[in-house]
Amino acid sequence: MANLRMTVLVVGATGSIGRLVVDEVIRRGHAVRALVRNPGKARQLPSEAQVVIGDVTRPDTLSGAVGGVDAIVFTLGSDGAGKVGAENVDYGGVRNVLRALGNRTARIALMTAIGVTNRTGAYNRATEAHDWKRRSERLVRASGLPYTIVRPGWFDYNAPDQQRLVLLQGDKRQAGDSSDGVVARRQIAEVLVRSLNSDRALRKTFELIATTGPAPDDFDALFGPLDADPEGALDGVHDMANMPLKEEPQRVRDDLDAVLARRSANSS
Ligand SMILES: NC(=O)c1ccc[n+]([C@@H]2O[C@H](COP(=O)([O-])OP(=O)(O)OC[C@H]3O[C@@H](n4cnc5c(N)ncnc54)[C@H](OP(=O)(O)O)[C@@H]3O)[C@@H](O)[C@H]2O)c1
Repeated sequence: MANLRMTVLVVGATGSIGRLVVDEVIRRGHAVRALVRNPGKARQLPSEAQVVIGDVTRPDTLSGAVGGVDAIVFTLGSDGAGKVGAENVDYGGVRNVLRALGNRTARIALMTAIGVTNRTGAYNRATEAHDWKRRSERLVRASGLPYTIVRPGWFDYNAPDQQRLVLLQGDKRQAGDSSDGVVARRQIAEVLVRSLNSDRALRKTFELIATTGPAPDDFDALFGPLDADPEGALDGVHDMANMPLKEEPQRVRDDLDAVLARRSANSS
């Protein structure tokens, strides 16, 4: 697919991945809009970035961010803010931005995490961060928007010669440490941005790690062999079915119903 110039909104633009996404969007020749909640932090961003001040937990601040965008990259993180942060930011942030988008369409690239389907490990039991990130994935799948979901391995644990990207599916690596796989922040940013322009990345969910070898030069070839998520599925293809909808909190089911209703209104 041609590298058509897009306007790309980065949600989480001041974060350790988001800043690199902003750089990559510019490098790829797109226009970049950065959602920033703290105006002081906007100064860290390159002058090419159009800064919009907003907080994903305050829906009234989001309409200016989504107007006229062709694509949205989510790299939000609420690390350290516990269960409430995970629900309000990692999940609620995605819900609120999609809600602000309304019936407009945009290509979505969502970053979550390797091991996101592991519900029983100590990390998820303490923070529920996996569960809430996985619910954000479900909202994106249910939205009917064209999407790619990237679940990176452990950030920046890779050696300089580990440039080869490996895409896995089914989220089978769940040790909860860097033995699950490592990947450089810069590589994550590149994959998120490259997915926006690749038809071969559509409706695909994958874990992203790096191993010894050269960097890829053909991203369509990288995304191509992956299985797409089935139409209408809430979870990634090959994911463990360990989050039954009927056991989900009512507010989560209500959010999903609202997304599905918006989708059917748009298609009628
Ligand atoms: N570390 C790893 O090895 C690893 C591996 C896989 C996945 N992950 C996941 O990656 C995420 C961390 O990514 P990162 O390092 O880029 O995170 P980060 O540096 O903490 O950045 C998080 C971004 O989200 C923004 N944000 C937080 N709350 C917001 C709100 N209410 N409204 C608007 N923006 C808000 C932050 O804004 P401010 O700058 O204003 O705070 C920041 O831009 C984590 O959630 C983690 O689970 C980590």
